[in-house]
Amino acid sequence: MINADAVFQSYGRSCDKPVFFEDFYSNLLNKSPEVRAMFTNTNMESQRALVRGGVLWLIMHARGMPDTKIRMLGESHSKKKMNINPMYYGMWMDALIETLYKHDPDFSKELEECWRDTLRPSIDKITSMYSD
Ligand code: HEM
Repeated sequence: MINADAVFQSYGRSCDKPVFFEDFYSNLLNKSPEVRAMFTNTNMESQRALVRGGVLWLIMHARGMPDTKIRMLGESHSKKKMNINPMYYGMWMDALIETLYKHDPDFSKELEECWRDTLRPSIDKITSMYSD
């Protein structure tokens, strides 16, 4: 079920702790050596701040904001630019959910479904721009 308000509140309970994004990237990088390799030259401190904002754009889009920022992500992650294959977004989402289970004290199976359903349209938009 899409429930952008529940997701927004869940994110509010989680994203203020810096350890949330440390755990998110350690979960994500542990899922695949290919993903780990993408971040070898990345300043992870900046990256954690960037993705904190990026997740918020996805939530705000579900709350009615125009898709300008989503399109920017679609472009930067496309084949021509950073070349992030659409196959990796499932891992990205799973890593996010695992991190939420750890850090949102009110997390549940129902909230997991809300997160997945609420972010899906934005992620579909981003991956649909991969080959443009
Ligand atoms: C919808 C989910 C995602 C969001 C919200 C997101 C967000 C961001 C943001 C905000 C940046 C900074 C550059 C920019 O503004 O484009 C970025 C860079 C990057 N993202 Fe993503 N991302 C997502 C999915 C992924 C996935 C699935 C991967 C690969 C597993 C990935 C790999 C990268 C890499 C390699 C960079 C560049 C790091 C560097 O500068 O060295 N992203 N992402």
